[in-house]
Amino acid sequence: MDSKYLFDLYDFVGREAVVEIALKATGAEVPLKKGRPTRVWQYQGTLLKGDPSSLQVNEGSYLGPTIRVRRGQKLRVRFTNDLPETTVVHWHGMHVPAAMDGHPRDTIAPGKTFVYEFDIKNRAGTYWYHAHPADRTGPQVYFGLAGLLIVSDDEEEKAGLPGGAFDIPLVLQDRTFDSDNQLIYLPGGMMGMMGMMMGFLGETVLVNGHPKFELPVSATAYRLRLLNASNSRIYKLVWSDGTPLTVIGTDGGLLEKPVQRKYVMLAPSERVELWVDFSAMATGATKRLQSLAFSLPAVGMMQMRGNASPANGAAMSVLTARVTAPGPAKRTLTAQLSRIKPLLASDSINEAAPRTFRPTMARMSWQLNNRTFDMNDMTAVSEEETVRLNTQETWVFDNDSTAGGGMGMGSGMGMMGGMGMMGMMKMPHPMHIHGLQFQVVERQISPALRGYWNTVSQGYVDEGWKDTVLVMPGERVKLRMRFEDYTGLFLYHCHNLEHEDAGMMRNYLVRL
Ligand code: C2O
Ligand code: CU
Ligand code: CU
Repeated sequence: MDSKYLFDLYDFVGREAVVEIALKATGAEVPLKKGRPTRVWQYQGTLLKGDPSSLQVNEGSYLGPTIRVRRGQKLRVRFTNDLPETTVVHWHGMHVPAAMDGHPRDTIAPGKTFVYEFDIKNRAGTYWYHAHPADRTGPQVYFGLAGLLIVSDDEEEKAGLPGGAFDIPLVLQDRTFDSDNQLIYLPGGMMGMMGMMMGFLGETVLVNGHPKFELPVSATAYRLRLLNASNSRIYKLVWSDGTPLTVIGTDGGLLEKPVQRKYVMLAPSERVELWVDFSAMATGATKRLQSLAFSLPAVGMMQMRGNASPANGAAMSVLTARVTAPGPAKRTLTAQLSRIKPLLASDSINEAAPRTFRPTMARMSWQLNNRTFDMNDMTAVSEEETVRLNTQETWVFDNDSTAGGGMGMGSGMGMMGGMGMMGMMKMPHPMHIHGLQFQVVERQISPALRGYWNTVSQGYVDEGWKDTVLVMPGERVKLRMRFEDYTGLFLYHCHNLEHEDAGMMRNYLVRL
């Protein structure tokens, strides 16, 4: 235990040290649209111990309650599975022991209860929790099993950001409804199989579980916390009035300094925190958040899916903010939000020859370095996937299929005749690592795919701490990370949930 942590503990004497929540996953009906309520799966929670602000129910939404904790507290969640199938809760972005991480081998059977308990060691930031069973993460998250976990700490407090009603989480998810207001996931048969390989894309964007979302704001500054909880859709976010986005945080909390972007890319499971000032706007005025079009080489294949959903990379509207009241006094944004220690090349034990992981594909499943996820093979972890506790490493996610080799295309793909396996390989992959936050240190793009890349590359926010990084077709991304505190099996995977369910997930082992 380092002294910083002791200091944090000391700091919480007098506050509730333990937040305890009863959480269940259950079937429910919510009124999402006019007419018939929508059948969903939902996390429902009640606070057993702790400050009442630790649990906020999202009325009228299928999203789970927002859990708010402070660094140094202990979170205990008594989870009951009230679904007709097994599930498990994963705490995305959180640095927790392997047994508490929500690994698919730890699934909870229908009717059973499991107690998650861990210390909040993460920096202040916007994290989330979601279902994570093998092969079924896509549908379980799609039908509603996700919620936010927001961490605060002293450093964040000093940044003096807008709080309370001026600190607004916005969860982006694309969904498709039938004429009876019921959610449609992937169809059966060939089209469903294609969807499974490509990723589900919905017809409309919901924000916090609401279609056509309008955000009423006062004419003042806000902190907006955006989470892309879509299964596979990537957003290219802009303000409709052409003003740049002011980014103050990402996956692992606040950046050191605010940065500006003309647009921001937000891939599945990534978070971005924006500072936005509505104070110059008159009452009644609006500002829209939109997703701009961008180009992907596989777009032609997307259209073969045969439904009405916009392709990944198609323009979509996200939300409208409307000024409904004058604001309190003008606020300014501090120049120094937080301090971040860079992970240096000289501190990585493998900087000269980084661990490199490439997407591959065989027999209708996705893989990483020719290995697919295998629940029956939990003990055999390759040397390539074993790391040592208390070391720093450099990893590369290499999505340049022209370089990689070993693409292992199985005969099962023959049925997709004429579509071109090479095209299938050229997909974006939001790569996520469990149990830690990393730093993105370098990106390279293959000259052959630079044209597509140019439509997104100004929108990366690689500053700060990340747990998911978007790796575009033809791109190689280099990361640095430290393995600390906990040994055991963790996961790394593509956070396109259909890719994950189709095998693009592997264990890595942290050992002494
Ligand atoms: Cu949010 Cu294993 O993922
Ligand atoms: Cu995760
Ligand atoms: Cu992927």
